[in-house]
Amino acid sequence: MPTMKASLATQFNAHVAKVQPANILLFDQEVSTVPDIVKLTVGEPDFAVPTVAKQAAIDAINADDSHYAPGAGSLALRQAISHFLADRYALTYQAEGEIAVTIGATEAIYASLAALLNPGDEVLIPTPTFPLYETMTEMLGGHAVTIPTTAPDFVLTPDQLKAAINAHPQAKALILNYPSNPTGVTFTPAQLQALAAVLQETNLVVISDEIYSELVYEGTHTSLAKYLPGQTVILNGASKAGAMTGYRIGFIAGPAGIMQRIGVVHAVMITAPSDPAMAAAVPIFGSEAGHQATLKMKAAYQARRDYLAHALSELGFTVATPRGAFYLFAKLPADQGSDDVTFATRLAKEGQVATIPGSFFGAGGEGYLRLSYATSMAALKTAVARITKFLQTA
Ligand SMILES: Cc1ncc(COP(=O)(O)O)c(C=O)c1O
Repeated sequence: MPTMKASLATQFNAHVAKVQPANILLFDQEVSTVPDIVKLTVGEPDFAVPTVAKQAAIDAINADDSHYAPGAGSLALRQAISHFLADRYALTYQAEGEIAVTIGATEAIYASLAALLNPGDEVLIPTPTFPLYETMTEMLGGHAVTIPTTAPDFVLTPDQLKAAINAHPQAKALILNYPSNPTGVTFTPAQLQALAAVLQETNLVVISDEIYSELVYEGTHTSLAKYLPGQTVILNGASKAGAMTGYRIGFIAGPAGIMQRIGVVHAVMITAPSDPAMAAAVPIFGSEAGHQATLKMKAAYQARRDYLAHALSELGFTVATPRGAFYLFAKLPADQGSDDVTFATRLAKEGQVATIPGSFFGAGGEGYLRLSYATSMAALKTAVARITKFLQTA
């Protein structure tokens, strides 16, 4: 086993050296050691990959689909994505030049930011938020400017956006995520329209992370791109709605002028995504069988959401309006104070229920817990019984 030459310790990229292991991961690892714990921590579907997707991957392997695909991804998948965006969200993106298949939504975020940022460039990020946006921005030598939003629903308002733009007129990008991880809240069309009216006066590129778009329980998902097509890039993928996190298929859709630059980063970094994984995603986005499979999972999430949101409210938690994704963002009952880290640690170690402290998602999250309901109804019922008991003794 080689030992690194000691003097190499100072040789690394300073931005990378600053990146700390994610709090969420560390906390999850710590509480996972509690015997028989029920975990509501993980943002990952508990369903098997739909059969139609598995079969497509098997067929691709058997057909020796094993060569470098085009950098933007296989044409079949880009066409399926083009169909998906038109069919579900009435958006028009061409397979050629306006869509790129990425290694999960994660690479889509990275490639978008890398295409935009020069050292020191600012990126506006409303909080509470998915922590990776800030980490990636800083790792790329940019500077994350957080915009704290306010309870109960933490929805970015036009006034909050205007204030951030006025204070940071040189910012390059705004990152939005709706439905939101961690809150489950999403924008209404009117709210998106109001934000678009502010944004169109600026040169901000909006990185619109819509990875949970197929998991909207009331009404349907609307993309900001409907109102702001010229400066929005949509990020999405098969990980959540297709229960395919391990296949690593995401995508970016945007105007050709932006996609050309993002495509350079993407091609240099990854050459092309994996052929069998792309083949698996084709029916998810492009077939009725794939759509039906995602709808079935969505119905199960919805029943779990209804159960958990109701149970938590009965226990004195205040839950942000959970219209989408598979998370509840719950404010601690008034008599439990606002130290979410201590509460979540005790709930895990004494109550055997693992949740994520809200403050790990940035300003505004203090005094909250994020609970994932991407787990079985039986596990949720055990969790509720345990939380009830814990609160009686806490
Ligand atoms: C908001 C958000 N964006 C992106 C991702 C990453 O998605 P993928 O697994 O497709 O890379 C996640 C995963 O938890 C997420 O919650």
